[in-house]
Amino acid sequence: AALPLLFTPLTIRGVTFKNRVGVSPMCMYSCVDGVINVWHVAHLSQYAIHGAGLVIIEATAVQPNGRISTHCPGLWNDDQIIAIKAIADFCHSQGAKVAIQLAHAGRAAGYYSPHVPDSQRLAPRIAPIEDGGWPDNIIAPSAIKAWETAADPREASLDDIAAVVAAFGSAARRSHDADLDVVEIHGAHGYLINEFLSPLSNKRTDHYGGSFENRIRILLEICQEVRKFWPEDKPLFVRLSCTDWAEGGWTSEDTVRLAKVLEAIGVDLIDCSSGGVVPITTDHPHLPGWNVPFSDDIKKSDSTVLTAAVGGITEPQHAESILQDGKADMILLGRAFLRDQMWVAKAAAALGVAVQVPVQYRRAGKAPSRT
Ligand code: FNR
Repeated sequence: AALPLLFTPLTIRGVTFKNRVGVSPMCMYSCVDGVINVWHVAHLSQYAIHGAGLVIIEATAVQPNGRISTHCPGLWNDDQIIAIKAIADFCHSQGAKVAIQLAHAGRAAGYYSPHVPDSQRLAPRIAPIEDGGWPDNIIAPSAIKAWETAADPREASLDDIAAVVAAFGSAARRSHDADLDVVEIHGAHGYLINEFLSPLSNKRTDHYGGSFENRIRILLEICQEVRKFWPEDKPLFVRLSCTDWAEGGWTSEDTVRLAKVLEAIGVDLIDCSSGGVVPITTDHPHLPGWNVPFSDDIKKSDSTVLTAAVGGITEPQHAESILQDGKADMILLGRAFLRDQMWVAKAAAALGVAVQVPVQYRRAGKAPSRT
């Protein structure tokens, strides 16, 4: 029988993924001063041990004020490279590829980590300076709060925008120094880039706001800057919120149009998510694979950019059928991996594929011995 597509290698530029299952980026809120540490090494290594083709490191800020919370990671200095390189080195030893999601949280920055109990907070949600926050330095395309309890952003100046773009380039250079395989730019979930894309959060009147061409400008500048530092033979992904799920917001047609522009400037794959700029006001199906239709819209368009599907995918057969139907090229899972670190190994068994077990674990099914 033919190998299931889920377990068929995929080559993008100079990188070959041994299968098409990846760990979606997930915030751990476990850093101090933006430095990734042994928690992240242990957490992500288990997926590599158990067969994931790709592991994506969580949203990692390119500037200190771009962190979602006071405990989120960053890549704005060289000390932050060390543990990231350890993740890359270990995952490579297990045959997995490693991506990092480079991000700026924009107006959705500066929160307390959800791990900080209410009793230990000086404020409900936004961390004050005394608790390591930066409530006076939150930037957004326009000075509009995300919602009532969110931080009060200031409108980013042209200097702020230029600094953000340059910071993405520096972080891409550090990502290469860390031996990572893929950079994913976080353009989704109501963070800075998404705030520029969406007409609901971008009310600027300069050349970064208004028309579609103006709203996508910062993302194009970021991709071009990243490509200056990120080698030609390494893939570049962009995660998008393909729809705002809101009246008057960004739509799947906008995403299809943007995907073609991104492909022309060196983006290889669109990671198709949705929502986050504003609360949902249109119908949301809340079905397994709810973002698959957006990935499918790109696949059906005249763009040849690759796509990843993510969101409520938990069953191996479902994942395989999305690929078989040509609706995506890669499958990412988030919460299913938090529940079951062995998801890939079990999916392989379910689809009749033999996966390599690490040599260190080969005695698991054998008789006990003394050494
Ligand atoms: C997330 N998600 C997320 N997305 C992203 O682009 N960057 C991130 O850092 C995070 N962080 C994060 C943390 C945690 C704990 C969860 C559960 C989710 C979203 C995630 O990558 C994924 O897109 C969604 O969870 C939907 O996929 P699943 O979980 O239904 O497979």
